[in-house]
Amino acid sequence: MTSEMGKPIGELRTLATKRARADSETVTEFLSRTGYQLPVAIADLIDNAIDAKASRVHVGLIFSKERPASLIVADNGCGMAEDELERAVSLQKDPRKQSGKALGRYGAGLKAASFSLGRVLTIATRCSGGTPIGAQLDQSRYRKRYEYGVLDPRIAGLLLSLDWGGDKLGGSGTVLMISDLTAMVPTSNTSQDLFLESFEKELDVRLGLVYHRFLDSGRVKITKGKRDRDDPQPEFGMQSVAAVNPFGYPVTGRKGYPKRFSIPVSGLSVPVVLHLWPKQGRTKDSRDPNYDILGRSGEWQGFYYYRWDRMLQAGGWNGVLSQEPHTSYARISVDLPLGSDSHFRPTVMKDRIENPRPLLEVLTNKREWADYISDARTVYRASATRKNPAFGREGTARPSDAKLAGLPGGALVRLNEGGNAELSSKIPAIMGAAKADALVELVSQAARPFGGRSRLSNAMKDDWRRLAHAVKVLVDPDL
Ligand SMILES: Nc1ncnc2c1ncn2[C@@H]1O[C@H](COP(=O)(O)OP(=O)(O)OP(=O)(O)O)[C@@H](O)[C@H]1O
Ligand SMILES: [Mg+2]
Repeated sequence: MTSEMGKPIGELRTLATKRARADSETVTEFLSRTGYQLPVAIADLIDNAIDAKASRVHVGLIFSKERPASLIVADNGCGMAEDELERAVSLQKDPRKQSGKALGRYGAGLKAASFSLGRVLTIATRCSGGTPIGAQLDQSRYRKRYEYGVLDPRIAGLLLSLDWGGDKLGGSGTVLMISDLTAMVPTSNTSQDLFLESFEKELDVRLGLVYHRFLDSGRVKITKGKRDRDDPQPEFGMQSVAAVNPFGYPVTGRKGYPKRFSIPVSGLSVPVVLHLWPKQGRTKDSRDPNYDILGRSGEWQGFYYYRWDRMLQAGGWNGVLSQEPHTSYARISVDLPLGSDSHFRPTVMKDRIENPRPLLEVLTNKREWADYISDARTVYRASATRKNPAFGREGTARPSDAKLAGLPGGALVRLNEGGNAELSSKIPAIMGAAKADALVELVSQAARPFGGRSRLSNAMKDDWRRLAHAVKVLVDPDL
């Protein structure tokens, strides 16, 4: 490098070391404006509960005079002792979380997530065999000198003794209460409505996605509910967060998938799985809820990164491809291995990784990658022909998918739990391939109203009977 004067710039040497300062006002302001959305912030707090070995986490909204006043995250994990609580309210790394499979790492999530939601964070916690203790962080005090209040232990005890998620927390646990939600809910009615809508509709789906492996394996149960601050009545609107598995298709979209690879990156081996969803129906009702997440099916193609089973990024192509309908059925899971944080650099918000390029370069240069993208396009373009996986050969569905198979017509046409009609592979042999294709096309249309259902009403069963009979007559009237 040369300067404008034509002299080389040379080595950038320093002469001495001086101390720079971090004033708490700037840091607190910065922490509270990191741009967390509600589900991302709540997930950061749930990560702490999972790190504390909780088997149950409850996310609650507390109303005061019919307006959202506080958010609760309560868990039955190991709780905190006095010195741990002190570290929790500080900006300090937990040495126990620097190796192994802890979800937290940076020592900032609790403060950043809470302050991006509201101005006051109250923590009540108890270790097994210990007494309740607590702390309160008020953004305006924290901003001056990182000061916090010591919570009256009786209040900590009260918070810990309430039912959260329909049950007591038990011998140990932590209750976070984030109040003065002005950061997230300015006073206008529209923003209150948007906040409530996000709490009601989006939050469970997002949490169901981020923690689907934990929820599916039963390692943790997450509930959501509401409570009125001034009413001693119990919680209401209780709901369990259900797993949303973006790879939870009933039948693969194409033979040979999923395809598994180990991609070498900086001496580590990264497990990558290429998945192809089967063709989905045109209407929302006929699409699988694991595919059509939040009703925005096309948005979920691309890479899913997991760090110790916790999802860090849900879809998106990281610049490798652009999002377009033809690649809708392509979803790829990547499991970041232990010791790879410094390489992939998960963000403090744990909502994506910053450095996917080296992995993606190796992956996209593989011959199988081009085949994969082309296969994804083929599945997308396929109309309802015999090759259409929604009408796969008999036996492609797992036995658990065949709950509806008891319906009449079984040998020739059956409805699997994914709501897809499956035609017998014997049909082309009986009536010839060309006719079989035409039949599949016909049945595909006729079977749409049955799509995505796990139960049929009696009226629908009658419709199904008629359809199955029609198939039988069309295939071979003498059968
Ligand atoms: N629900 C909880 N139960 C037990 N301990 C907790 C809980 N929440 C926070 N802590 C303690 O407080 C510390 C600080 O949490 P914080 O989320 O700020 O940082 P972290 O989890 O260490 O890292 P990261 O910034 O990556 O989330 C944790 O390391 C943990 O020791
Ligand atoms: Mg954390």
